[in-house]
Amino acid sequence: MESCSISLFWLGLLVPTLLVFLLNRRKRTKLPPQPPAWPVIGNILDLGTMPHQNLHNLRAKHGPVLWLKLGSVNTMVIQSARAAMELFKGHDFVFADRKCSQAFTALGYDQGSLALGRHGDYWRALRRLCSAELLVNKRVNDTAHLRQKCVDSMIMYIEEEMAVKQATKGQGIDLSHFLFLLAFNVVGNMVLSRDLLHPKSKDGPEFYDAMNRFMEWAGKPNVADFMPWLKWLDPQGIKAGMAKDMGRAMRIAEGFVKERLEERKLRGEMRTTNDFLDAVLDYEGDGKEGPHKISSQNINIIILEMFFAGSESTSSTIEWAMAELLRQPESMKKAKDEIDQVVGLNRKLEENDTEKMPFLQAVVKETLRLHPPLPLLIPRNALKETKFMGFDIPKDTQVFVNAWSIGRDPDAWEDPLAFKPERFMGSKIDYKGQNFELIPFGSGRRICVGLSLADRVLHLGLATLLYHFDWELGDGSTPKTLDMKERVGITLRKLHPLKVIPKKCSV
Ligand code: HEM
Repeated sequence: MESCSISLFWLGLLVPTLLVFLLNRRKRTKLPPQPPAWPVIGNILDLGTMPHQNLHNLRAKHGPVLWLKLGSVNTMVIQSARAAMELFKGHDFVFADRKCSQAFTALGYDQGSLALGRHGDYWRALRRLCSAELLVNKRVNDTAHLRQKCVDSMIMYIEEEMAVKQATKGQGIDLSHFLFLLAFNVVGNMVLSRDLLHPKSKDGPEFYDAMNRFMEWAGKPNVADFMPWLKWLDPQGIKAGMAKDMGRAMRIAEGFVKERLEERKLRGEMRTTNDFLDAVLDYEGDGKEGPHKISSQNINIIILEMFFAGSESTSSTIEWAMAELLRQPESMKKAKDEIDQVVGLNRKLEENDTEKMPFLQAVVKETLRLHPPLPLLIPRNALKETKFMGFDIPKDTQVFVNAWSIGRDPDAWEDPLAFKPERFMGSKIDYKGQNFELIPFGSGRRICVGLSLADRVLHLGLATLLYHFDWELGDGSTPKTLDMKERVGITLRKLHPLKVIPKKCSV
């Protein structure tokens, strides 16, 4: 009897203490505002088919830092320049990790990848190696002739296509096809010293096809990303499909690597090339942390990644720029006049000419403001529990930075929905990661490693198209009726590819 009353006494003390403790904990854990959520699926339906747009629409009601429960995955969404500055300036290290989708765990891709790799020694070493090859200005300058060769080929292919298409006047050509060819070949030349896509190449089209399929798998929404307990089941077969097509692309990449190793053996390790593949093969560590050699599986993954990350992002940006200019003939004329003035009529346009074209540069910035190819960047992950703008963000929270929404932030941009390149004339705002209202390449430690390369290709590609041709809309579109709907995949592309009619200028 006595022991029973003692137990009751302790129980009476324990229950209120536990309640007070739990209530205090709830009070202390302050999460960002969250829209109402469903049981189990949480806020998944809020994403819809256009997550960047739907999240942007939630900003008015819930503010620029949003909390979502995507199935069981804690997610924070950043949707203003000020919040992005807090994230990248104040908390860059904590959010320098990545949350990787299940599709990319196929064949251990995430383990070898730079873009999706967890923050750690391997990522740091790889990042240093890739930065030296792709981000350092001197190295990028040294490869200008390769990009020149690729734009020359693009112009030639467009002319050939036009000659064939004379019979189907009015329909125009699919510009995205030629732009993808340009971007893919630029990466091919930088990485492997070869044009992969040209009418006579054998491996190229097969590699392209496998890459395309693998990009399609990567763009599909996957329920297993929201409910990790379903991962083992792979309910939509996405990981399996990815493994099949990635495997195909990987075998072709492996073939390129083997070929190079054979060549090097024949020449007694004497290099005939000095490209990205050589740099990766020669890597023996850099005296800091990280691997001393990169495994052959990871070399294949890194090679694939350069194509995957560098092709569609670049080509779709030039396509959007052309679409915007075709909708605004006065901007198109201004850009063409500037190019003619800088280049004149009797010589070829070269990459460094574009440095003297402020209006062209403004067109590229304005395009990336409204049409960032990765609207939510690449998801980050919180390395540890952290206090962010007064909120308590738990460890392993996924972070989306809505660059698409930030580009439309009415607090940062006047008349945000209008395409007005003039807003950048005389302005110091750039997309190199320091101006948080314009972050199509991200910012901080994980900023795009291909930024310098992309910057050159975007300007050279666009300027060359404008220099060589006068452009009209095909398919019966007019500047007023041109469809600008988006399509979400691995990048944000035009839903209906741009059909255009080029007319050769007399250069
Ligand atoms: C218009 C063209 C491009 C855009 C808009 C773009 C955008 C981005 C963005 C938003 C990120 C994530 C940044 C972050 O998390 O803060 C990224 C990362 C990356 N990009 Fe790009 N990119 C472009 C072109 C390229 C090119 C040409 C390459 C290479 C050939 C490339 C390779 C990469 C890689 C490897 C990463 C991962 C970096 C890391 O996680 O450390 N990108 N890019």
